[in-house]
Amino acid sequence: MQSKHYYITTPIYYPSGKFHVGHCYCTVIADTIARYKRLRGYDVFFMTGTDEHGQKIERKSKEVNKTPKEYVDDIVKDTKQLWDDLGIKYDKYIRTTDEEHVKCVQKIFEILYKKGDIYKSEYEGLYCTPCESFWTESQLVNGKCPDCGRDVELVKEESYFFRLSKYQEKLLKFYEENPEFLEPISRKNELINNFFKKGLEDLCVSRVGVKWGIEVPFDKKHTIYVWIDALSNYISGLGYLSDKSKIKEYWPADLHLVGKEIFRFHAMIWPALLMALELPIPKKIFGHGWLVVDGNKISKSFGNYKDPRVYIKATSRDALRYFLLHEVVLGQDGNFSEELFLEKSNSDLSNDLGNLVSRVTAMVCKYNDGVIKKCNQTEAYDYELINVASKTVENVENLMDDLKINEALTQIWNLIDKSNKYIDLSMPWILAKEGKFDRLNTVLYNLVECIRIIGISLQPYMVDVPSKIFDQIGVSDDITTWESSKEFGLLKDGTVVKKKENLFPRVDIKEEIKKMNQEVEENKNIQVEENQKELITIDELDKVELKIGQILDIEKIEKSKKLYKLTVDLGKEKRTIVSGLVPYYTENELINKKVVVVTNLKPVKLCGVESNGMILASGDKDVVKILSVDNSDIVENGSNIH
Ligand code: MSP
Repeated sequence: MQSKHYYITTPIYYPSGKFHVGHCYCTVIADTIARYKRLRGYDVFFMTGTDEHGQKIERKSKEVNKTPKEYVDDIVKDTKQLWDDLGIKYDKYIRTTDEEHVKCVQKIFEILYKKGDIYKSEYEGLYCTPCESFWTESQLVNGKCPDCGRDVELVKEESYFFRLSKYQEKLLKFYEENPEFLEPISRKNELINNFFKKGLEDLCVSRVGVKWGIEVPFDKKHTIYVWIDALSNYISGLGYLSDKSKIKEYWPADLHLVGKEIFRFHAMIWPALLMALELPIPKKIFGHGWLVVDGNKISKSFGNYKDPRVYIKATSRDALRYFLLHEVVLGQDGNFSEELFLEKSNSDLSNDLGNLVSRVTAMVCKYNDGVIKKCNQTEAYDYELINVASKTVENVENLMDDLKINEALTQIWNLIDKSNKYIDLSMPWILAKEGKFDRLNTVLYNLVECIRIIGISLQPYMVDVPSKIFDQIGVSDDITTWESSKEFGLLKDGTVVKKKENLFPRVDIKEEIKKMNQEVEENKNIQVEENQKELITIDELDKVELKIGQILDIEKIEKSKKLYKLTVDLGKEKRTIVSGLVPYYTENELINKKVVVVTNLKPVKLCGVESNGMILASGDKDVVKILSVDNSDIVENGSNIH
């Protein structure tokens, strides 16, 4: 039998800097839905990627003296690593610089031009570069971009236009006939009020000043507007107009998940383009809310960068996924803070889930040498637990099908909660003391069976924990399938459980926040260094004073995991220099070494210690070697390096 197809996408992100937890939010949701659909037997195609063209990237790459392609290549490498770190299992990672994508977008442009849906004219208007959006005077708010509040630029140039106005009525009709197409409904109403009531204007779809983009194939001084380039990824990624097309299998998309600020591009421009191409319209566009800190969107440009890796390191990827999925209602904004995140990790994960698994496995080990026995001394109140357990996955399915992800998780936590209460109610330690072994075995069986169901139902949301649970309770593959979770009592007599440490070790919140802040500070320093790459002249090079120095004394800086405080002899003087060598050198390896020192750097304070210079080193994150000279007396401390 052919399986049902399911195609889900995230937006393609601008690789204009390192990704923050806000970017992780949408990707984790999409990954969770994709995992859930796979478990339900769908043939899923999950695509994410990067939107790599446009003025913003062009400018950013210039700032750091790289070509745009070099610039985005580095960020894409880092992004793919981040998605691996978070357990994101995508089927395709699309880049708008991929050759197949470029060819596809050019073909689309040509088709629409030949059809008359794209025409040449002149554009005069306002443009917001960070948002890559065109605006009319009346749409501005206090003279600024209505989306991000930043300055707009006046642009006047020969341009190609897409006849968006032609599709106004068709779009409205489509919205009406397909009430599930745009969600949440409030965003759909907002869109109709803000854009359709005034009447749709044709859309400028090319730029002449922007070099970093896809050329209009028949008029090479123009590049294609980034949003036309970007939106097309959803079909180019399926090989549209190529011989390897998967359009038949997966198009129309089942779900485009997008942030609320880019909802209108997807709800208006994208279906109009598809109508012009005579392709079916996606089944659903869902505009989610933002992760916010003190009411402000987490954003690269608003200075409240939140590094997902710091949170993963402090706890685990499953803890971060859980927070993003449970604490934010899909469609609404959600607060993010270190305290909130760690508190949830301690309460919901360590206390509720982690303790349940460790308590139950510990009891089976203590009272029965780890062996589960199937006995039938059931009491009336057992059925309450059994009923909740048997219905959990069905409830999860209903909620997931409605994209109520946080509520689906609440259902699972309801079972966790009921199981913990069942322990208190049945008091296995008393049963053991009183020698009521059949009842004890029944209680332990019921609990392990609930844990099996919990493990199965967590599979869409968590990456490592379900298999850890299965390993601890020793269940075979045939009873860890999604369907098997709907039947209570499949756990086999004689199953052997293992006792391991808590799935989510508790964290000391204050201590962890201190460590996180420290790490963020240290990463900021690295970031500043990375961003400061600029070409210099020979005169500027002359300004750099390099000398030989000898390390006389070494101390670890208490507040830091990476920094040493070094006393360096520079001949006529001794200096304190702070250097991040702790992960790479022991104190013994450094003492008395003659090293190369930049001696005329402005002093900086690192973790409270003033550093007066820099020791040169080379390497990457894993291996770092200092530049040193032979320890003979021939090179005197303080000698200049030319
Ligand atoms: N490149 C376009 C999308 C083109 S899709 C055809 C773009 N990129 S973006 O990098 O600026 O944003 C990508 C997505 O990340 C958006 O959906 C946006 O809402 C999301 N997020 C960025 N910061 C966010 C939060 N703080 N919280 C949640 N999501 C946020 O727009």
